[in-house]
Amino acid sequence: MSKLEDIVSLCKRRGFIFPGSDIYGGMAGTWDFGPLGVMLKKNLMDSWWHFFVEKRDDMYGVDAAILMNPRTWEASGHTATFADPLVECKECKSRFRADKIADGITESVTTEEFLNTHTKCPVCGKENWGPIRKFNMMFETHVGAVLPDDNAELADKNKAYLRPETAQGIFTNYKNIVDTIYPDLPFGIAQQGKSFRNEISPRDFILRDRECYQMEIEYFVKPDTWEENFEKMRALQHDFLTNVAGLKSEDIHEYEVPTEDRAHYSKRTIDFMFDYPNGEEELMGLAYRTDFDLANIARESGKSMEYRDKKTNETFVPHIIEPSIGVERLFLAVLSTAYTEDEIDGEKRTILKLPSHLAPYKFCVSPLLKNKPELVEKAHEVYNLLKEKYTFVTWDDSGNIGKRYRKQDEIGTPKCIVIDFDTLEDDTVTIRDRDTATQIRKKIAEL
Ligand code: GAP
Repeated sequence: MSKLEDIVSLCKRRGFIFPGSDIYGGMAGTWDFGPLGVMLKKNLMDSWWHFFVEKRDDMYGVDAAILMNPRTWEASGHTATFADPLVECKECKSRFRADKIADGITESVTTEEFLNTHTKCPVCGKENWGPIRKFNMMFETHVGAVLPDDNAELADKNKAYLRPETAQGIFTNYKNIVDTIYPDLPFGIAQQGKSFRNEISPRDFILRDRECYQMEIEYFVKPDTWEENFEKMRALQHDFLTNVAGLKSEDIHEYEVPTEDRAHYSKRTIDFMFDYPNGEEELMGLAYRTDFDLANIARESGKSMEYRDKKTNETFVPHIIEPSIGVERLFLAVLSTAYTEDEIDGEKRTILKLPSHLAPYKFCVSPLLKNKPELVEKAHEVYNLLKEKYTFVTWDDSGNIGKRYRKQDEIGTPKCIVIDFDTLEDDTVTIRDRDTATQIRKKIAEL
């Protein structure tokens, strides 16, 4: 099995991630997070929020609605340009994202350029392609009690989209925040939430999904200071990825995106690429969006987006630096980094070497023997004490102690605490370390 297959299998076996709607045969591009996945994901999202919002004086949070007035997507350019190059095999009718099946082409590929790559259909192996068509990735819906069959005109008027990025919920609240909080420039607005994209080919486990969580910041700066703020934000992202998410610096590669490949709103973009088990892929992006969004909103809404400098009284439309990361991509990067196989006393084991602040559980408490009531009672006492103090504590009295260690290693629990007969005598417990498998004894009062 490849490393990615090992990770997928561990995620299912231990309750991190299941295929979406699995019981009905699944739904491509959707995934359900199980009890341990929810805990790890929440720890990641909370760590991001703490690092970028709570710890700082220049960041504010919002939680905007997913359904937004469709004018949002007209103004942002998504209705017109948020599209991928779709190509269909005329032989077997399979559809693909052209730039993902051919080498050396980009999202803006033309039919002629694609045909020149002489790519064979990944499904039937033939080379008989239709033209490249632009496929808009926004999911459409209709708001209110109207069916397209009843009244096509009204249904069209009530058309809405599931947001394809959380960013627009930030831009549309920029004026609300300036008018209520009066922040000094530069300041940022952060949001975490679901985004939806009708991806042509979802793939690589949770790397390319049809719905994903994004964590985005729009950082508003004076136009002539964008370059220094861009560099600061770039360093800050690296700091978060390595020191908080625990990724290795050597697995992260910054890629300066050339003009022709940048999103329609960006004047400069750096993609942070990560060495995933199946190869290098985009983990996150950092873009200089200029005043593109605020200027569009001002035009579409007729409301001024100007900021008045409190000291100089000067007015201008701020420019924007945007770091944007998908939680699922970060989750997979963290799992790929943590996933390790080694051997202890001639026995193979799998460990998730997660940083302890991200691990679903910090401690596992168990009695050495399940059938000795005095050990079980003492172990419950220790469990309740730790649960009160650290919250993320689990109980395990299944199987033998070796099996419990293997299970806790696989879900990334840093410390296993075992209550044995000595505990009853001297109030000490065994603490076993996940990464080194070494054991020490400590007084319960010192835990
Ligand atoms: N607001 C800017 C924006 O949305 P993007 O490059 O389209 O830019 C930003 O997306 C990040 O969101 C990506 O770097 C990736 O981490 C995540 N992302 C985007 N599409 C995704 C998908 N289909 N599945 C999982 N994550 C995705």
